[in-house]
Amino acid sequence: MLKQRYTVTAALPYTNGPLHLGHVAGVYLPADIFVRFLRMNQHDVAFICGSDEHGAAITLRAKKEGITPQEIVDKYNKIIANSFKDFDISFDIFHRTSSELHHKTAQDFFLKLHEKGKLTEDTSEQYYDEDYNQFLADRYITGECPKCQNPNAYGDQCEKCGSDLSPTDLINPKSTLSGKMPILKTTSHWYLPMNQHEDWLREWIKNGVLDGEKQHEPKAWRNQVLGQCMSWIDGGLHARAMTRDLDWGVKVPLLNSEGKVLYVWLDAPIGYISATKQWAKDNNKNWEDYWLKKELGTNRTGEESKLVHFIGKDNIVFHAIIFPIILKDHGDFILPDNVPAYEFLNLEGDKFSTSRNWAVWLHEYLVRYPEKIDELKYTLTAIAPENKDSEFTWKEFQARVNNELADVLGNFVNRALVLTQKYYYGKVPALGTLTDVDLQVLADLKAAPEKISKLVFAYKLRDAQTEVLNVARIGNKYLADQEPWKLIKTDEKRVETIMYIALQITAQLSQLLAPFLPKSAAKMRHFLNIDIENWESLGKTDLIPEGHQTNQPEILFQKIEDSLVESEVAILNEIKIQHEAEKVADNYQPAVQKENISFDDFTKLDIRLGTILEAIKVPKADKLLQLKVDTGIDIRTIVSGIAQHYSPEEVVGKTVSVLLNLEPRKIKGVESQGMILMAENSEGKLCFVLPEKGFEAGAEIR
Ligand code: MF3
Ligand code: ZN
Repeated sequence: MLKQRYTVTAALPYTNGPLHLGHVAGVYLPADIFVRFLRMNQHDVAFICGSDEHGAAITLRAKKEGITPQEIVDKYNKIIANSFKDFDISFDIFHRTSSELHHKTAQDFFLKLHEKGKLTEDTSEQYYDEDYNQFLADRYITGECPKCQNPNAYGDQCEKCGSDLSPTDLINPKSTLSGKMPILKTTSHWYLPMNQHEDWLREWIKNGVLDGEKQHEPKAWRNQVLGQCMSWIDGGLHARAMTRDLDWGVKVPLLNSEGKVLYVWLDAPIGYISATKQWAKDNNKNWEDYWLKKELGTNRTGEESKLVHFIGKDNIVFHAIIFPIILKDHGDFILPDNVPAYEFLNLEGDKFSTSRNWAVWLHEYLVRYPEKIDELKYTLTAIAPENKDSEFTWKEFQARVNNELADVLGNFVNRALVLTQKYYYGKVPALGTLTDVDLQVLADLKAAPEKISKLVFAYKLRDAQTEVLNVARIGNKYLADQEPWKLIKTDEKRVETIMYIALQITAQLSQLLAPFLPKSAAKMRHFLNIDIENWESLGKTDLIPEGHQTNQPEILFQKIEDSLVESEVAILNEIKIQHEAEKVADNYQPAVQKENISFDDFTKLDIRLGTILEAIKVPKADKLLQLKVDTGIDIRTIVSGIAQHYSPEEVVGKTVSVLLNLEPRKIKGVESQGMILMAENSEGKLCFVLPEKGFEAGAEIR
């Protein structure tokens, strides 16, 4: 196969929270599989990622946690980078957009666009929060989406319908800082006139033709990506501001641009370039080989790199339209070859949500199950939201691991290796005469790598992984049909051939599996005592030759117990309950203050401490307790509606606040001579108003 250079990027995660399984399934894991596959095929790959540390996502999170933006990005950069490392995602570099190299790279890029006249300066009226003295762009403003009526759309995007918005599109706009209706104020910004780019974008995205002459391959982009791009372009592109009035971000490198930074969606994708520069510097490579057109840099003689962006669907416009425009405007850069975008993953029936804590956090999973990394990878690939939203449930995780990894793959590998130990002390036996069944199995084995390659290059990793597992299925069926454990008593020669073939299947599996489940593939290589990791070795029938010594195998995948599923579901249920309580609290409207009363009115109230001496439930009234209370002046009966908050045993002995001179009244047939004062919270829970120590029955409250 012709060797190709690839620049593969995975969307830079915002450092405003840890990673959850939705992020992993819909960007990082597929990117990692793709890259591992390319490397196994000896392609030259730079696998680029890093953290996206600017934008309102960061500053708003900092405000919420009460720490500085710098502290926020340092905190989450560390958590995210560690979980990628522990999950064995094989980035060549995980960089940061807060680095100096990035700021410089992004500023130079902006200056180049500015010098080439690719940006236009314009003043406009923008929303402004007077309490915070701040312009409100992007996530700083929310309101109703004009397209789908979602009441919580952001100033740049509606997350519900995916529409691309600007703050002035919002109905009933509200500042996320003060919660108030903003005012309009004039400011000036640099804009990217995207409207001027519609024609070439359409030609390029639809037909793969660039600059009217250069025929690139027709785009084999996913239908949803093509569909979204075309609907944006056909709907008409608009000039979009590339700068913001904020103090957190990359400073605009022009005179008189005090208080302005680059739009985060301009600076972040340039982060791919600065990360590549850093990686090249650290590894004695030339970054230009991975980004510039072939006439430029050191690429002059070589072929252009293929640029591939793995992203989530909410990032499509930025990677398939805006970034290509600025790369082309700059002039020196290649444009993306493909933009595999993923739909969303849901969790147990609900959307993943960082703010609602509805998530399985990757770093927490890794602490709980450090030995189950490939089990998670396998499940996430099997359910990856390639063409439509999909769902993770712990039950399915268990089923995938137990029925597929353990029963199919693990079982086959174990059988093949254990029988080899038993019959031949681990040595690969000789291949004898082949039967029709043998020939069919070998032919299937030979065809598998090509089939899988095709699927990987079409970004159909779900199907590709299924094909790998099918090879194990073929192996299982072969052993089950041939029954070497029976034949060994009657036809030892035949068993040698069967086991030889079973071992070749195992060896091929150790290769086919490597991009998907690298840890398990490494274990298998160890069992087989081979150190090959090379896709081109595949299809051969003597990957491990006769006489080769294999090792004693171990169980590849432990089954998942019901108790794991139960405890994980319990954790999520807990979060749900907590969230419901918070929702109630959020909707809680404190009662408005009552009308003023005179001091005289107040002095009419006789409130004192009283000690509860006895308590019984009032028959046929589930809310009432009948109390005997020592008021300091007498002992009296009071009926109180607290039975759903306190048991009779709990209240006896408590000294509480009591209104004495409330006119006596009959409640359920019992005369109540006063009232116990209670505090009520947002959830309608009641509690006593209790004195400090040393205050006893009879003390007046005023
Ligand atoms: N931080 C963005 C997000 O999480 C993705 C940025 S990708 C890049 O949605 F292109 F900007 F790098
Ligand atoms: Zn909407």
